[in-house]
Amino acid sequence: MTTLPATTALAEIAQQLTGGGRGVLAADESIKTMSARLEQAGVPASAPARRDYRELLLTADGLHRWVSGIILCDETFGQFLADGRGFPAAARELGILPGIKVDTGTTPLPGQGGALITEGLDGLGARLASYAERGAAFAKWRAVFDVGTITPASARANGHALARYAALCQQHGVVPIVEPEVLCTGDHELADAERATRLAVGALFAELAEAGVDPAGLVLKPNFVTPGLDADPAPAAAVAARTCAVLRDTVPAAVPGIAFLSGGQPTGRVCEYLAALEARPDRLWAVTFSFGRALVSAALRTWAGDPAEVGAAQRVLLDNCRTAAAATR
Ligand code: 13P
Repeated sequence: MTTLPATTALAEIAQQLTGGGRGVLAADESIKTMSARLEQAGVPASAPARRDYRELLLTADGLHRWVSGIILCDETFGQFLADGRGFPAAARELGILPGIKVDTGTTPLPGQGGALITEGLDGLGARLASYAERGAAFAKWRAVFDVGTITPASARANGHALARYAALCQQHGVVPIVEPEVLCTGDHELADAERATRLAVGALFAELAEAGVDPAGLVLKPNFVTPGLDADPAPAAAVAARTCAVLRDTVPAAVPGIAFLSGGQPTGRVCEYLAALEARPDRLWAVTFSFGRALVSAALRTWAGDPAEVGAAQRVLLDNCRTAAAATR
C-alpha cells in the first residue's frame, strides 16, 4: 500500500518555490522547441548542445539567490553536467529544487473549434514515481488556450486533465505546478484576456476541488491578464488590478503561491506587472515568477554556442533573475 506523504511536506515545498523573494526558472522547453531556439541563435541543435545550454543556466554562480526551482524536460532530467553530476542532484546541491515537465504536449480537441487539449496522463503515475525517486520535488503540466477559441468545454476538459495530473503528483509526494496558459499572441483587448483567464482558471479550480487535490500543496502558474502582444500595452496598475480580480474570484486563499509565466513579453514589462501585483493590498497569495523567455532569451543570444561567452551569458541571466526577484520583494 502506498503511504501518502504528509501534506505539510507538499505545502512546505510549494511555499519554498514561491516565497522568500525567489522564483522558478522554466528551462523545460521540449526538444523541438529548444532545438528551434538554438538554431535561431546560430547553434546547431543536438543533445549535447541542449545539455551545454542548460548547464550554463543551472551553474550561473549564485543563481539560488533569486531562483528557488528549475523546471527541466525529460531529456535534461536524465543528462549530466560536465563534472559528472546528474542535473537533478546538481540542482539540489546548488540550493535549487529540481522540477520536471510531464505533459506530452497539445492536440486539437474535437468538436471545440480550434481549442486544444494537453495530453500525457497515460502511465503518468509510474513516470512520477520514477521522477520522484530520481529527485524531482515538483512537476509541471501546461494547458494552452487562445482567447479566440477557448470554450467552456475546453476549459473543463483541460481543467480535468490538470486535476488528474495534480492528484497523481500529490499521491507521489511531488508538488504540481498547474499551468492554464491563455496565450498573449494576437491583438485582443484586456477585457478579452480577462474573460478567457477567468474561464480557464475558474474551470481548473472547480476540477481540482472535485478531484480532491489539496490546494495548499500546489502552485498555480497563470498568465498575467494583459492585452495581446500586437495591441497597445496596458499600464502595469491596470494589469495588476485585472489579474488580481480574476484570481481572487477563482483561486482559493489556501493556495500558497502563484508563479507567473512571461508568455514571451519583454522582461522589463513582466517585472513591472509582478511588482504592481506584489504591491496590491488585496492579494491573497505569495506572487512570484516562473518565467522562461523573459529570463533566458538574452542569455542564449549572448552565448550563441561560444564557450568563451559562457560567463557573459550567465551574467545576463543573473541580471534578469535579480530583477524579477526584486519585483517580488
Ligand atoms: P515563458 O515565460 O517563456 O512563457 O515560459 C514559461 C513556461 O514555462 C511556459 O510553459
